[in-house]
Order: sequence, then structure tokens, then C-alpha cells
Amino acid sequence: MATPKVALVTGSNKGIGLAVVRSLCKQFTGDVYLASRDVGRGTAAVENLKAEGLKPLYHQLDITDPESVRTARDYFQENYGGLDVLINNAAIAFKMADTTPFGVQAEVTLKTNFFATRNMCNVFLPIIKAGGRVVNVSSVMGAMALSRCSPELQARFRSDDITEEELVGLMERFVKEAQEGVHSERGWPSTAYGISKTGLTVLSRIHARRLRQERPQDNVLLNACCPGWVRTDMAGPDAPKSPDEGAVTPVYLALLLPGAEEPHGQFVSEKKVQPW
Ligand SMILES: NC(=O)c1ccc[n+]([C@@H]2O[C@H](COP(=O)([O-])OP(=O)(O)OC[C@H]3O[C@@H](n4cnc5c(N)ncnc54)[C@H](OP(=O)(O)O)[C@@H]3O)[C@@H](O)[C@H]2O)c1
Repeated sequence: MATPKVALVTGSNKGIGLAVVRSLCKQFTGDVYLASRDVGRGTAAVENLKAEGLKPLYHQLDITDPESVRTARDYFQENYGGLDVLINNAAIAFKMADTTPFGVQAEVTLKTNFFATRNMCNVFLPIIKAGGRVVNVSSVMGAMALSRCSPELQARFRSDDITEEELVGLMERFVKEAQEGVHSERGWPSTAYGISKTGLTVLSRIHARRLRQERPQDNVLLNACCPGWVRTDMAGPDAPKSPDEGAVTPVYLALLLPGAEEPHGQFVSEKKVQPW
């Protein structure tokens, strides 16, 4: 029997990730894995989807734990020979009213949203199969933070020749300068979440470029996206979109038709490529 296709959604025990799993269970021809850092919360979410008549599978995955990431990668490699769809959805955000010092917010937020998501990409990209789809759930907040960076930083973040090493250096610099209380005078806006998503969108552009250079025949499509403003624990009850509505653009990118050559390396919102 041929190995089924397989999709994995990080941080999908609730919110937009859960809605992405629900949608993929209905539309994706293959196995769909709900993943969570906490096994109890994840298996409870799986049971809830089963009660809706859907059949998600489950794997534990804490994106900040390199061992957990490697274990998951090995599981998909051994059981499916790789992965067809990866949706990097897991992220955190401090609430507006949170009084945690900005330097701490910067370190903690970038640890998950940028550095851990980067590790997910670097560990999983080698096992993404030909024709695979990778979706990094970023945010329009990243684009807004970009527009508030100094002209020098904006030029680097928009450039087509920025390397992953340079980007990592800039993200580390942001954390250090936030901790030293000098980030504003060094050209950064005071938004840790925004800069973490600027970094993720730029990383997506870099990884897409690398895929085209190193695996031109495989036609893997990798994009960043914004789900819109969605009612979740992260964004609160006043947001206009339901989680199922927030899942539309990530799922669209995950299910780009076989043979499609674009979008690739783009930032996509409401199913449309946005200027960067
Ligand atoms: N909601 C919006 O309006 C909005 C707008 C733009 C972009 N986004 C992006 O959309 C994505 C989903 O956000 P959401 O609104 O659905 O947030 P959410 O309801 O807070 O869900 C976040 C999910 O990420 C998980 N997570 C956090 N840290 C993790 C880790 N280290 N390893 C694995 N999973 C982890 C959480 O798990 P726990 O339950 O264990 O905490 C949870 O399942 C995020 O990337 C967010 O930045 C959201």
C-alpha cells in the first residue's frame, strides 16, 4: 500500500491551529496531525474533533525543545518517509497590559516565535517531500513593525541578499538592545511580537530562496501569511474573525494545487500576496 500523504500543524490544540487541523481533516487527502506541547491539551483537542466526526492523529511537539522537534521529525521520516505539509503556527504573545520588562518580553517572544520556529524549519525542511507545502503563520504586525524600523534595518529586511546568519544576528541584536534599553535609539520599534514576526517573514523569504536554489526540481512552495485578526486566547474576544475564518489563508497555502509554482517566498494575507 502506498504511504498516505501527511500534514502537521504546530500549536494546534486551540485557536487558529486547531481550526487549521479541522479544515485540513475535511479537505486534505491524507493523514493530518494535531500537535501540542502539552499531551493532555492535545489529546483533548483530538477527542473534540473526533466528536465532530473528524479523524485527526496526534503527536507531541514543543517547538522550543530541540529533542521534541527531532523526535517528531524522526517519527514522520520513519512512518511516512517525510512530510507533505508543514504549518508552523505555534507562537506566543504578551498581552498589552503585561508589565513584564520589555527586554524580557523581547527574549521570551523571540525565543518561541523566531528562534524555535527557525529550528523547526531547519530540522523539518530536509524531510519536506517534493511538491510539499510549508506555511509559516506570521502576522501583519510583522509588516507594521518593519515599517517602523530605521531605514537601514528596513533595507536589510527587504533585501534579496540577506542571509539567515545576518537575520539571526539582527534578531539577537534586537533582544540584546531591548535588554539594554537602547533598542529605540538603535532603530527598533517597541514591539517584541511585531519584530518576531518581521523576522519570521524574512526567514520565510530566505528559506524559499534556498529551496529554489538547492531543490529546484522539487517544487516545494513555502510562504508566510497573516490569518487576519482572529478571536483566540491570543487576540481576545473582540477580533472580527472566527478561528475557522482565520484558518482560510493558511489552509489555502497548504493546499496550493500540485504543479503550482507560486506563490513562493511571499507574505500572503486574505489569500493575496502582499508587498513587503
Ligand atoms: N489571533 C490573531 O488575531 C492572530 C493574528 C495574526 C497572527 N496570529 C498568529 O496565528 C498563530 C496562532 O495564534 P492564535 O491566535 O491561535 O493563538 P493561541 O490561541 O494563543 O494559540 C497558540 C498555540 O500555540 C501553542 N504554543 C505556544 N508555544 C508553543 C510551543 N513552545 N510549542 C508548541 N506549541 C506552542 C499554544 O499551546 P498552549 O495551549 O500549550 O499554550 C497554542 O496551541 C500564531 O502564530 C499567531 O502569532 C494570530
